[in-house]
Amino acid sequence: MGIDADNERVRGRRRKPPGLPQGKLRTAAQLLQNPDMLAHLSAFDEQGTDLLGWRNGLLRFFASRSPDHVEHVFIGGHDKYRKATHYRLIAAVTGEGLLTAEGEEWASNRRTIQPIFAKRHLDALVPHMTAATADFLDRWQQRPDGDTLDVAAAMSEVTLDVVGRALFGATLSDAADRLRPAVVVGLRTGVAAARLQLLLALPRWIVDLGGWLLYNVPFVPPPLSGIRRSMHTIDDVVRGVVDARSSSGGEGDLLDLLLAARDEDGNALSRTQVRDEVVTIVLAGHETTANGLAWLWYLLAKNPEARERLQQEVDDVLGDRIPTAADADRLVWTTACFQEAMRLYPPAWVLEREAVAEDELDGYRIPKHSTVIFPVILIHRDPRWWPDPLRFDPRRFLGERAAQSLRGAYLPFGAGRRACVGATFALMEGTLIAAMLTQRFLLDLVGGTPVRPEATVTLRPRDGLPMAMHRRPALV
Ligand code: HEM
Repeated sequence: MGIDADNERVRGRRRKPPGLPQGKLRTAAQLLQNPDMLAHLSAFDEQGTDLLGWRNGLLRFFASRSPDHVEHVFIGGHDKYRKATHYRLIAAVTGEGLLTAEGEEWASNRRTIQPIFAKRHLDALVPHMTAATADFLDRWQQRPDGDTLDVAAAMSEVTLDVVGRALFGATLSDAADRLRPAVVVGLRTGVAAARLQLLLALPRWIVDLGGWLLYNVPFVPPPLSGIRRSMHTIDDVVRGVVDARSSSGGEGDLLDLLLAARDEDGNALSRTQVRDEVVTIVLAGHETTANGLAWLWYLLAKNPEARERLQQEVDDVLGDRIPTAADADRLVWTTACFQEAMRLYPPAWVLEREAVAEDELDGYRIPKHSTVIFPVILIHRDPRWWPDPLRFDPRRFLGERAAQSLRGAYLPFGAGRRACVGATFALMEGTLIAAMLTQRFLLDLVGGTPVRPEATVTLRPRDGLPMAMHRRPALV
């Protein structure tokens, strides 16, 4: 049957959306792995569409760059969708934390946990954030002026420490040394597994079974044994800290708040739920912020005027003081720079959902079990919503203009009821780290090698981000 006839045949007037151009992006894996993401923009443009559709084995895939579709899938019609299957691979490490749980279990936990991330609690966490950042910068201070370092790796180091201290206060120290390498393996595994899943398009239950076997079967060959060890290490460390805290009492951190949280019936989270949420927060809350910050330093080095304005703001608002929570609200240009960096390089550069019921987008049928992919980076760089889209212009996020930004066209933290629960935390953290680093240092790109984005689970600089650090003169 010809393509046209096939299109017209489906359910009355509904048609299939344009497919991927021949010889270009034939599978979801290619769509998600090609580091030159702007190539995908041409796939949409060549087809003159905001919605592409294709098949991989038995599974149907769609990709959309439409803010209206974002609104529909994440907000208006969210009950027809759930997280795509590869989130189940993350669940092998995190358990059923907020990022991966579904249905009533997720809804109940979200109601219990969301208040923990309220502004008043976050303000109380600021001293933990700034202490971690100050220690990190003290280590930089030992280096010679002009030293070159991988700023992407450095941002991972500081954000892991920040989230660790926000969760565990001062308790983490030796636990962190065990946790850090295990988390790195966990993240790498997530990347490899997500790619495998996209290539093989495995059914959900097989993915769940695979995760269970990996964790529970004692003898697995390398490299699976290394992954298994890391999963157990994360588990041991987190359970150890939770158990110790339950008997010793408060440190004024997120763990205290999790242990004290009660659902509508007055029930506390179970020990396993606390463990799952802690691991989720460590995984969801550090690499994302780290990548957002890495791209910020890259963009500031390329845009000296924006960088000078940032330095001026930091000098005016903070001088050489350690920032407080109140300062974070006054660092408006710094925050706008971080938001604009996440527009051009969104750490969560793609979001995916699986249809649990048949749906329709732009009149096209979305069959049950289809995966709908939103390449956030394309939406953030679409000239229809963002004039002069490739220009780094933090003014887009200042005052009235910020309020005008289109719903569905800016989604670094996702959208709707499953949007990032840590968004305010992350904005505050990004602003404070950026400001504190700017108080002391200036970062410049080195060498002529172009910095290219790599699209893994997060969007990060492919070969790291080598930059030269220079001390800024002390303020008098
Ligand atoms: C710049 C940093 C961050 C970015 C870009 C980011 C991005 C996102 C995105 C896009 C989602 C939604 C995923 C989806 O709908 O499929 C999400 C969910 C989530 N994030 Fe973040 N995140 C960041 C920082 C954080 C931090 C600091 C925390 C915790 C302290 C955190 C915890 C979570 C959790 C628990 C969820 C799941 C929420 C739910 O489904 O109820 N994130 N994040």
